[in-house]
Amino acid sequence: MGVLSVDDLELVPLPLEALVAGEVLIESQWLSVDPYMRTRMQAVGYDYLNRDGMGKWLPGSPLSAWGLGRVLESKYGGVVPGDWVVGHLPAASHGVLALDSPAGSLAPLVFHGQDAPPLAWLHQRGMTGFTAWLAMCHYGRLRPDDTVLVTAGAGAVGSLAVQWALAGGARVLASAGSVAGREWLLSLGVAGVLDHSRPADFTEQLARLAEEGIDLHLEQLGGATFSAAIDAVRPRGRVVLCGLVSQYNGSDPRRAPHNLRRLAAIGAHLQPFVVPGHEAVFWQPFQQQVAQPPASEFRAPLEVFDGLESWAEALCGLLVSGRRRGPGKRVVRL
Ligand SMILES: NC(=O)c1ccc[n+]([C@@H]2O[C@H](COP(=O)([O-])OP(=O)(O)OC[C@H]3O[C@@H](n4cnc5c(N)ncnc54)[C@H](OP(=O)(O)O)[C@@H]3O)[C@@H](O)[C@H]2O)c1
Repeated sequence: MGVLSVDDLELVPLPLEALVAGEVLIESQWLSVDPYMRTRMQAVGYDYLNRDGMGKWLPGSPLSAWGLGRVLESKYGGVVPGDWVVGHLPAASHGVLALDSPAGSLAPLVFHGQDAPPLAWLHQRGMTGFTAWLAMCHYGRLRPDDTVLVTAGAGAVGSLAVQWALAGGARVLASAGSVAGREWLLSLGVAGVLDHSRPADFTEQLARLAEEGIDLHLEQLGGATFSAAIDAVRPRGRVVLCGLVSQYNGSDPRRAPHNLRRLAAIGAHLQPFVVPGHEAVFWQPFQQQVAQPPASEFRAPLEVFDGLESWAEALCGLLVSGRRRGPGKRVVRL
């Protein structure tokens, strides 16, 4: 499979299994689309997903997504119809979810009562918020005198990472593939914006904005922009490798940049990371910090697609540049 297209994904009716003890039937109300979903379709690599119980998506596999659903029936003690569940749900209008032995290391979060939990659980309090916090506050070891570069800065993880860096007092540069995305980044207060849809002159764009180089880089795209950022890292600087989305549609989606060795030569630190495996230790500290200023005041827009039938288009469009309707986290409202 090369470039993922809507024709590769099919909306089909599936039978619902009868509930057994420990399970709930949910009606999905919101579902996320995320770049890592494309990596679940790669035959080779990304084995951490298997370790975490999430598994590969082979032809014919039903899909799943971080989302928000309402409980219709329950065979799990303490959870009743009308309660809400946030977590990895079947990418379907309805699904059966095991609450006693969930896939993945973060158990679904249950909210009791008639009021839906805030949509912040889809983004800044959920997985993309957790990723941005791990990247910038934990692995990035952000300092106020840093010059920071964030690629894919107008997207879900990037936009929150940018705001953590701004809140930490750093001088922040960020890239987006559209004029609207770059204008939005400037409205957040970044010192300069770059166009990553022009990888050929990304080095020059960066040199103009950061003559003396960068201290901390958050990489999300891969390819020429990653190489340009590595060339701009200062001695003993830090690079946090969060993702390589520009390569996910290829057959070899984890190509190392040609100049990776420069980091060793200048004593810089490279920290690749994936979120699975961090939940047990870091989820609670993250939740404490994200619920209070500055994070509680971050701008965290949702880019909403409507209807389950739009889920495929929403996912495919996330894997190419310049197909955003707006900044922030892309989600589907059912
Ligand atoms: N390490 C982890 O555990 C973890 C967790 C979550 C996410 N991630 C990674 O973080 C990155 C961002 O994820 P996200 O959820 O926040 O997505 P996102 O930034 O909201 O969406 C991806 C954006 O990347 C840009 N892009 C996509 N394909 C591109 C291409 N071929 N060339 C250039 N730009 C391209 C597009 O923005 P423009 O339209 O502005 O170009 C697109 O909207 C991804 O690499 C993802 O895999 C990692």
